[in-house]
Amino acid sequence: MSTTASTNREAMLEKIADLEAQHAVAVAGGGERYVERHHARGKLLARERIELLVDPGSAFLELSPLAGWGSDFTVGASVVTGIGVIEGVECMITANDPTVKGGASNPWTVKKIFRASQIAEENGLPTVALVESGGADLPTQKEIFIPGGKLFRDITRSSAARVPTVALVFGNSTAGGAYVPGMSDYTVFVKGQAKVFLGGPPLVKMATGEESDDESLGGAEMHARVSGLADYLAEDEHDAIRIGRRIVARLNWRKVGAGSSGFAHAAVSAYPRNHRAPGDSASDLDYAEPEADAEGLLDLVPTDLKEPFDPREVITRICDGRSATNGAVFDEFKPLYGTSLVTGWARIHGHPVGILANAQGVLFSEEAQKATQFIQLANQVDTPLLFLHNTTGYMVGKDYEQGGIIKHGAQMINAVSNSTVPHISVLMGASYGAGNYGMNGRAFDPRFLFTWPNAKSAVMGPAQLAGVLSIVARAAAEAKGRDYDEEGDAGMRAMVEQMVEEQSLPYALSGMLYDDGVIDPRDTRTVLGICLSVIATRPVVGTERFGVFRT
Ligand code: COA
Repeated sequence: MSTTASTNREAMLEKIADLEAQHAVAVAGGGERYVERHHARGKLLARERIELLVDPGSAFLELSPLAGWGSDFTVGASVVTGIGVIEGVECMITANDPTVKGGASNPWTVKKIFRASQIAEENGLPTVALVESGGADLPTQKEIFIPGGKLFRDITRSSAARVPTVALVFGNSTAGGAYVPGMSDYTVFVKGQAKVFLGGPPLVKMATGEESDDESLGGAEMHARVSGLADYLAEDEHDAIRIGRRIVARLNWRKVGAGSSGFAHAAVSAYPRNHRAPGDSASDLDYAEPEADAEGLLDLVPTDLKEPFDPREVITRICDGRSATNGAVFDEFKPLYGTSLVTGWARIHGHPVGILANAQGVLFSEEAQKATQFIQLANQVDTPLLFLHNTTGYMVGKDYEQGGIIKHGAQMINAVSNSTVPHISVLMGASYGAGNYGMNGRAFDPRFLFTWPNAKSAVMGPAQLAGVLSIVARAAAEAKGRDYDEEGDAGMRAMVEQMVEEQSLPYALSGMLYDDGVIDPRDTRTVLGICLSVIATRPVVGTERFGVFRT
């Protein structure tokens, strides 16, 4: 191994170790004391419930595990969300973490659940909610009460879209929280544990003077036998999980996208194209493992993000190898034109994808135009797109402005914005400036967006941003006829640089839900395979309509 490769590897391994430490904080939930208390009550933790719910040995793609990172709230935001396979059906699973503030929802919890329900909606995934929550985190109620209504709205909209919703209630689900089971298609309540009422005994006493107790107001038995809010009464937590799995088994759920073995009646009319017709045989998803080892991804990425690396080295490590159905690993499109952006066709776990990957950091007019054409081609043939980010943005300077870099970048952003095939973004390195937009950053609603632990994203690099501020401040002082404070300038630059550096780091961005998770680069192929399989729940239908392309 070359010295550069081993330096790169060492730096990446250090970042991965740090990532694992951050994830451990999320997994620890409310900490040892609360975990012990929870177990002592004979209850399972959120992740233990999920593990029992999903098919043995299947993968669970946890989403937004670092939500709330860098805020005053516990990392993970008192809820676990992710995609798991139940009785062979890919479902969105949400599970309150009762060890963190009684599972109460703070502003990050709400954002994290919104994101989970957006993913469920876009991909048509049934939802299973594992409920045990103290409701709204009362000190932050002003930030969550009004937007929080969307949680309940989304459950019933999913039902209306014929995508079932299930609530397994393990404990408290009071006040607004009562509408989680209230809006769900199927409910299972655990005997002696579920407590579902709009107002608990003290509130009822205050409101009406009535004396009551938890069980008669909202116990599992009462709801199963009297109010009818509980469809099933579970003997204990394991029984609730067993019933939940039986409910999903009886959904008679079929994926309707390419490669799936059947399709539901609703989707037939939504599939007017003749490319990759629904019901393509399962053999369509035969694939060979990559021709280069994923370990090599650790050697590739320079520690200095300004140094580019060849994304084809990533592509051969994450895409399917050659097989009877896949004649080449990567069919590069327009390889001689706009070479700072690599475009082409490949397969991942048998799913066809179009890939756009930054090669030299900067995007010029040619790259923007090539991307625009490529995105249209993917829409023409109903093929999902994968964006591999490592860009410092669009080129600036007189020649480039005069050459039309803005309108060419606008064409690319137009194509990305109006494309209707599913997009997935992976931030492998830099994702700066409008390059983040053109490459399908968070604001452009990729179905999924994951980040490598070395990646950085901001309006521009920290040193450049501090430098721009300094130039502006100097000019302002000159305009007012004042001397410029050079010493203050150096301090300001150092402070701004550090601040932007911190804000650009993946944990900070993940904490704010600007991605769906930070991943070990070696897991990229597996994560993409799960995402593409989830995407194939529904047909992929490209658009014929884009905005006006400025020429
Ligand atoms: N908002 C903010 N903090 C809350 C909370 C809420 N809704 N519910 C619980 N907490 C906090 C508690 O103050 C406690 O904090 P501490 O450990 O720092 O002292 C921690 O979460 C654990 O609560 P605790 O009551 O010890 O846990 P528990 O498992 O015995 O009971 C609940 C959990 C949810 C049943 C109970 O805390 C409760 O009834 N909370 C209020 C529920 C409610 O009425 N919500 C209405 C909101 S719309």
